[in-house]
Amino acid sequence: PSGTRYEAENATISQGVAESNHAGYSGTGFVNGDNVTGSYVEFSVNAPAAGTATIALRYANGTSTNRPAAISVNGGAAQARDYAGTGDWTTWTTDTFTVSLNAGVNTLRVTATTDGGNPNLDYIDV
Ligand code: GCU
Ligand code: CA
Repeated sequence: PSGTRYEAENATISQGVAESNHAGYSGTGFVNGDNVTGSYVEFSVNAPAAGTATIALRYANGTSTNRPAAISVNGGAAQARDYAGTGDWTTWTTDTFTVSLNAGVNTLRVTATTDGGNPNLDYIDV
């Protein structure tokens, strides 16, 4: 991957904790969000110029239930992403999607939209 990596454990966490008890993560851990609708991780993403950016979000979902999330940039309209089970909590995979960024600092919030909460979140590459 090119660009910049933003670790979830360094982002703003609402209703969740940084943990490191499931191997395979990048950085110092991952975020275990509370299993509730509305728990989120918000990344502060810097863009050199306005435009479309490709985001690769790494996650693990050790359940067999989808954990969909709403992805919102700068508080704007969200796009829904599905985070199906990955087999176990140490199996991490990457979801790639695009967003529109402003030049400078942006917020990118990943919010759980079901009461299962988010999958465990490792990082985003931008
Ligand atoms: C387990 C697992 C956590 C995970 C949680 C969940 O407790 O150890 O890492 O976040 O399940 O279901 O969300
Ligand atoms: Ca959790």
